[in-house]
Order: sequence, then structure tokens, then C-alpha cells
Amino acid sequence: MKIEKIKGFRDHYPDDMEIRNYFLNKITSAAENFGYGRIDFPSLEPLDLYRLKSGTELVNQTFSFTDKGGREVTMIPEATPSTMRLLTARKDLPKPVRWYSVPKVWRYEEPQEGRFREHYQFNADMFGLDSAETDAEIVGLASTILDSIGLSGIYEININDRFLMEYILKDLGVQDVSGAFSIIDKFKKIDKKSFILSFEGIGAKDDEIKKILSLLGEKVDIDNLEKRVKKVVKNYDDIKSRIDRIKKTFDLIKLYTESQINYDFSIVRGLSYYTGMVFEAFDIKGELRAILGGGRYDDLSKLFIEEQIPAVGFAIGDAVIELLLKRQDLWMRRDKKESYYICNISSGDDDYIVKIASRIRSINKIAIIDMTHRKLASQMKTASGFDYAIIIGEKEVEENALTVKNMKISEQSTVGYDDFLLRLRNKSE
Ligand code: HAM
Repeated sequence: MKIEKIKGFRDHYPDDMEIRNYFLNKITSAAENFGYGRIDFPSLEPLDLYRLKSGTELVNQTFSFTDKGGREVTMIPEATPSTMRLLTARKDLPKPVRWYSVPKVWRYEEPQEGRFREHYQFNADMFGLDSAETDAEIVGLASTILDSIGLSGIYEININDRFLMEYILKDLGVQDVSGAFSIIDKFKKIDKKSFILSFEGIGAKDDEIKKILSLLGEKVDIDNLEKRVKKVVKNYDDIKSRIDRIKKTFDLIKLYTESQINYDFSIVRGLSYYTGMVFEAFDIKGELRAILGGGRYDDLSKLFIEEQIPAVGFAIGDAVIELLLKRQDLWMRRDKKESYYICNISSGDDDYIVKIASRIRSINKIAIIDMTHRKLASQMKTASGFDYAIIIGEKEVEENALTVKNMKISEQSTVGYDDFLLRLRNKSE
């Protein structure tokens, strides 16, 4: 019986994993440069954690089951609720808290370009402050990450504010704000007719729907935000301070990146816990689904404790990143470690060979010992993919020496063991 891989899941071989890890390391090191510390949590959580706050759409996409103890559990579909559980369990932590994580997450979605049923997801979140500065740092970190992996110029970030949207929707007379958010979230995925029908389904009137549509059509330059909002709300002064904060956030984000940042009323995010700024990054050509997404979720802590803890963060999946980097011809590792392939044609002086390999590895370079006992020509063929070949035969063992060939310039010489160590030591400095 042939057992196939489950639909929507991926296998990763070393050549692929090496590049994936290289980019994940770049991402995590950018977060560490901003002072974010890594956390981790279980892959399996109580389903209630998501039922209560992520929203029904995500819960419908979970890989969940009842365990042998009768508990309803799920493979985590996202990291935010677990992160909040960790945070609220530790009252002693000085705020603000800056954390990141890189879990695998699972969602029963229709597999498509950049979307799978299992993916690595980098998350970064900051807790304890609610301000334009913190919102800007989170968007700034997101763009710094995209810039650091080479994607500057090919992405844009679209931002909206759920607080402002809620105000506008209520001001227009829409009663079911969360229903309205779920429909707006699908604005780009459904046609205009279905959009209008869905809004009618939650009791919105024709003129309300018209005004909502007038906002969603195109991205807005931040300098025109005030004008656009004034057109739809009855009393602009009631919401002026929020617009000022959004403008300040935009000004601050520009200190982190030169990338295109737009105001976009159609970004409301599918997850239901967001309360303030929300944002997503897209490829500029608009061909792919979101590269990353996040926002402010100040009320989620109340699911765990009485206290409200301001929170803002985002997540980025490995799959769209891989697609974009491949399209740009950037899916490769640039900082390859120096590598040595040790060809063994001696009659088994393992001591000497392992000693050489260990010394090379001790300065964080790659050393691979050929263990096939093939002819030298065959071993050298394999060595051609490495920076250096080291040849150890009877003569080298006897003389306590090594024959080293620089494979790039095809230059070969025999050096004493101590001289070789000296050369290695110079490289490690
Ligand atoms: P999300 O928008 O559901 O947000 O997912 C964030 C990112 O994860 C997406 O932009 C995409 O890069 C990636 N992603 C999501 N689903 C898939 C999939 N099926 N296959 C591949 N990649 C995928 C969240 O998950 C929030 N918890 C983010 C957050 C953190 N908000 C605050 N802090």
C-alpha cells in the first residue's frame, strides 16, 4: 500500500530547509535587534481558546478533535491566543513586553499559491502600551523584516483602524458591526452584487451600503484621510483625535521604511479580536494573498484575566515569502559557511581524519568526511561542490600533513598539520 502525503502539507529536504532556515534566521534576528525575545508554546491547545476569540471562520478551519480524555483540542491555527495566555500568566513581567515566536500552525484552508494547511509562522507582539509609537514600531518591524530579506520595493503595506471603522459604521446606522467587518473582509474576494446582498442580509439600507462602498473602492493617501472621513460622518470632531493618531502613526512608520504605506478602508482582518490599527502587506502587483497581517487587540487579555493589557502584533507565513523570493530570484543562501570535504585514501587512520574534521568544525566551518573508500577521483568529484578538498593518504598520515586543494582556483599544496591549524586559527579571528 502506498501512503501519500496529506493534501496541503509539505515535505522539506535539506537543500530547501537550509534556505528556509536562512530566511527565518534573518527574520528572527531582525526581531532580536528590536529587542524581541523568543517564546514557545504547545502545538495542541483547548479548542475553546479559539472558539472564544479568533472568530468562527478560523474555528471552522481548525484541525480539531476530542482527545482520549474527552477534551476538545486543536492543532493551533494561529499563535496570538497562546501568546496572550503566556503573557497573562506572568504578572511580574515589566511592560512593555516584546516577544516573538515561530510556531508551525495548521489551518484547513483550500491549498493555493502561498497557502497550505501547515506553515511556519513568525509572530511578533508588543504588550503594555497603546500608542502611535507602538503601532508604528510593529509596522516598522514588519517592513524592516521584508526589507532585510530583499523585498523592498515589491511590497506595500495597507493600514486601517477598526476603532475608526466601527465609529463610521455606527454613525452610518449599521447595527451589526462585527457582521459588517466579516463582509468588508471579503470585499476583494467577492463581486459587488454579493457584497451588497450580504450587507442587506445584516439589515443595512441602500444609502448606508453606498457610503460604505464609496470608502472601500481605492486606497487613500494619508493626507486625504480627513477629507474622506468628513464626507461620510455626521460630526467629524467626535472622531478627530483618532484621525490625528492615525496620521501620527503614519508619520512614525515612515521613519522605519521607504516602502509604500497606504490607508485602505477595506482592510479589517478576518480575526475578530482586533480593536484598533489593522494592517496587511501585499505584493505590489497584487497577484498574491497577504504577505503578512496584524494589528492591535487590546481586549484579548480579558479572556484570561480581569485586566486589560494593550497588545499589538503581526504574523508572517513562510509560504508567501518563499513564493515572492523565488519570483525575484532571491531564494538562495548568501552567507554559506566555508566547507571542507575530506577525501580519505589512507588505510584507515580514522584518528587523524576525525581530529582534522573536529578542528575545522570547532571554528564553525563545515567538514565532511568521505566514508565510502572509493578511488580518489570519485571522492574528488564529490569534493567539487565544496570550497576545499583535503586529501589524506598514507603519505600525509606518515608526515603529519594534509594535502589541501582550493576548489575554486584549483590550487593544491601539502601543508604540515600545525601550519594548517595556524591557517584555520587566522580564519576564525
Ligand atoms: P493571519 O492574517 O491569519 O493573522 O495570518 C498571518 C500570516 O500568516 C498571513 O499573512 C500569511 O503570511 C500567513 N498565513 C496564514 N494562513 C496561511 C496558510 N494557510 N498558508 C500559508 N501561510 C498562511 C494571524 O494569524 C494573527 N494571529 C497575526 C497576529 C499576531 N496578530 C497579532 N499578532
